[in-house]
Amino acid sequence: MHELVDIFPSERQKLYNRFSDKLETAFNFNRQFVSFQTNKEEPIYRWFKYKEGFSSGLVRYFLNKFSDKPGKVLDPFAGVGTTLFAGQTLGWESYGIELLPVGIFVMETREALRKINPEKLKKSIGNLWQDINKIENPPTHFNHISITRDAFPDDTEIALNQFLTYCSSIKNKETQTLLRFTAFSILEELSYTRKDGQYLRWDYRSKRDLAGKPFNKGKIYSFEQAMKQKLSQMLADISPQNDSLFDSVGCNGQDQHNINIIEGSCLEELPKIEDGFFNFIVTSPPYCNRYDYTRTYALELVYLGCDNDRVRSLRQELLSCTVENKEKLEYLNQLYTSMGRRATFDKILSTYNSSSAMKEVNSILDELNKLDKLNNNNIPRMVKNYFLELCFAIFEMARVTKSGGYCVMVNDNVRYGGEEIPVDLILSEFAENFGFNIQKIFVLPRGKGNSSQQMGNYGRTEIRKCVYLWQKR
Ligand SMILES: C[S@@+](CC[C@H](N)C(=O)[O-])C[C@H]1O[C@@H](n2cnc3c(N)ncnc32)[C@H](O)[C@@H]1O
Repeated sequence: MHELVDIFPSERQKLYNRFSDKLETAFNFNRQFVSFQTNKEEPIYRWFKYKEGFSSGLVRYFLNKFSDKPGKVLDPFAGVGTTLFAGQTLGWESYGIELLPVGIFVMETREALRKINPEKLKKSIGNLWQDINKIENPPTHFNHISITRDAFPDDTEIALNQFLTYCSSIKNKETQTLLRFTAFSILEELSYTRKDGQYLRWDYRSKRDLAGKPFNKGKIYSFEQAMKQKLSQMLADISPQNDSLFDSVGCNGQDQHNINIIEGSCLEELPKIEDGFFNFIVTSPPYCNRYDYTRTYALELVYLGCDNDRVRSLRQELLSCTVENKEKLEYLNQLYTSMGRRATFDKILSTYNSSSAMKEVNSILDELNKLDKLNNNNIPRMVKNYFLELCFAIFEMARVTKSGGYCVMVNDNVRYGGEEIPVDLILSEFAENFGFNIQKIFVLPRGKGNSSQQMGNYGRTEIRKCVYLWQKR
């Protein structure tokens, strides 16, 4: 390792020195403030946990502190819409781009919730179980993919099919959405699986042949039990007696704008937006950490009607952050060329290619790969494409932000083969090239912990977890 450091002069160190006066430990931010955990008071987050989200408090903090009046706010990696809904409660016009149907569905449900009358809802689901049980031989609503096959006990899968058939007969759109969401949010409880970091972990009671130590996930609920529990939690939360919760989903907000949801890849959608359209961006892209959203949320994707081809294409369209992602450069070339923006494509690519720190990271990873020092041969490709795609996204984010407007981005640095990749510095360098001034890189007081294996190998250094604040010139 030391030899490599000698061969490659540290461009990362130079970049660190250049931005060192912008790096500031933010003692007023802690991990809870940044992560989804503090959203637990808000109904929709209590009903369906989306661990990849950030906190509403963080969004409100930046919008309030760096703007004197509401305008237009965007999250190009919207997830379940934390930026959009926090902005909405403050009177902002909110826009979000999200690729995965999971986030889109949660946002749509939250919008539906604003229009729902809890008393009417209660009435309309009064006969729910009677009506569901009347449905015989329901059609199959699941096109399972290999990683979800046999995830539910047979009775549960029948009940889910009956339920989805029942839902499709509900005339009121908001009621239908809310009911479909109820079952969506209990899929993990009903199944033999548990979301476990990168993959779904399988319980020993499933039909699958499982290698290794048997895993017992605890109680597996029947459809009726889990639905009844979830419905009563939701009805209690949205009851008008429950003022604070009712307010936090904006049910009472007269002056609030509807949110604007754009389903698709931001690499494709951002270029369609006019220059200077937004006053603020608050966002958190996927991290460069091999996390695959399409595996973690496989049950939910299949429930929402995605089949094998759709899940595969979603996996490829995601910002490259897994070792399976293929390069999108040719696709981007064609996209920009078809829009008559070939010169822009060349400019973005040349900004990427001229980053010395990026070149250093790419060549060190290639070298480590040759020495067989990486866990997977595709890590260099993933890292290269992660930054390349974010270079395009950041160019567009700068373009669509008004002069004087801000971009706030939450992201973690990463480490592969013992080499730290300063995601914060490299992305800030791109941002600077595209018209943002780097105001601050807020570093969370305690960075991400290291796995014990990494600590053993490389010592107890922490990698930064940051919130960047960029202002458009
Ligand atoms: C870290 S999460 C954002 C969570 C969000 N801040 C929230 O609070 O819900 C990143 C999101 O980016 C989405 N994503 C990944 N690639 C995308 C792309 N090319 N275009 C749009 N969204 C994408 C993922 O599906 C995921 O929901």
